[in-house]
Amino acid sequence: MSVTWEEYLSVPDADAKFVACFGRCRNAFERHRENIRGLVEKTSPRVVACLGAGVLNDIPYRTLVRSGATIHLVDWLAGSSDAGISLSLIETDEDQRPECIYCDVSIDCPEEFCVNYQRSRGSAGAVCDRFALSPCEPPTCEAFLKGESPLVHYEDVTGGYASQFGHRLLRELRDARTWERALSKATKLAGRIQPTGRLSIDDASVDLVTSSMLVSQFAHEPYDFFSARTAERLGPPTPQQEASLLPAMEKLRSALFAHQVQRHLDEVQRILAAGGICYLSFEVFSTVPQSHQWFMVEGVPAVLKAAGDRFHFNFDLLPETELIVQFQATRRRSLTLCVVMELKPI
Ligand SMILES: C[S@@+](CC[C@H](N)C(=O)[O-])C[C@H]1O[C@@H](n2cnc3c(N)ncnc32)[C@H](O)[C@@H]1O
Repeated sequence: MSVTWEEYLSVPDADAKFVACFGRCRNAFERHRENIRGLVEKTSPRVVACLGAGVLNDIPYRTLVRSGATIHLVDWLAGSSDAGISLSLIETDEDQRPECIYCDVSIDCPEEFCVNYQRSRGSAGAVCDRFALSPCEPPTCEAFLKGESPLVHYEDVTGGYASQFGHRLLRELRDARTWERALSKATKLAGRIQPTGRLSIDDASVDLVTSSMLVSQFAHEPYDFFSARTAERLGPPTPQQEASLLPAMEKLRSALFAHQVQRHLDEVQRILAAGGICYLSFEVFSTVPQSHQWFMVEGVPAVLKAAGDRFHFNFDLLPETELIVQFQATRRRSLTLCVVMELKPI
């Protein structure tokens, strides 16, 4: 019995993996957090939507909460953003005393964020009376129970394109007896999908959308799902087969990538309010591990074209030094382009 798309997306032992990802990748995303923090401070958005929020490594969550904005966090990995929230709440001051962002006296309604919040009876403290420090790293509060804010959506940021491909793929591959046939069927399916899904965020309602390091992921999924399912049924291709299959593999990968970018940017365009902005960052150059040679990442012109068709770029809101930043979460290094986009006037 093959792994379904839902099973594929549900991470086994998820909580431990989310904590590990937060610890491992936090530093790599620091400049994206700084860029987004700067945009929040400059533009004071009333509504923010972070697409591909994951465990919030690239989201300056404490700044967002302090800003008083309504916050939407979107990712398709169930539980990821809830884990990110509880890992982002507590910081320690220089005397190692814990401070909780929700217990901060400048927050209007802490109960909206934490159901267990209880105002400190002593002088205004940095944590509330229910605070219970967890004995782990990074520090969390064991009494924290999420309230109605922020709004967390475990949904597909490609308007359902990637999920529909994942759902329909197994049926499509049923009678494919060779890799050539499987690739041909999957490529036709990629061209047929007409997604009708949308995020549960209202039209024209968001002042700041972030899509940070998200479109770079479209090169991996759902292509890797196709590849794993086909290898499961037909066995992995031999090196000789792989060489001859390469053009067909690239065709499928780039079709999936291009369709997802289009649908994702459609959703960004739909939810942006008049006068709103979108922070978009993605990899443009990369090394192969243990090499000093850089190559251009596949699909970069397609992303710029799709973005330029829908939006104007604003190069005044980010410091010039932050438009291209180095990124390294694994042994591979990459250069990421960070741009701010605005709706074109109708
Ligand atoms: C490279 S990560 C960005 C960093 C991430 N915010 C973090 O905290 O580590 C990309 C995120 O986008 C999510 N993602 C990728 N494709 C998606 C899709 N089609 N819909 C929703 N989330 C998606 C992944 O699950 C992942 O959490």
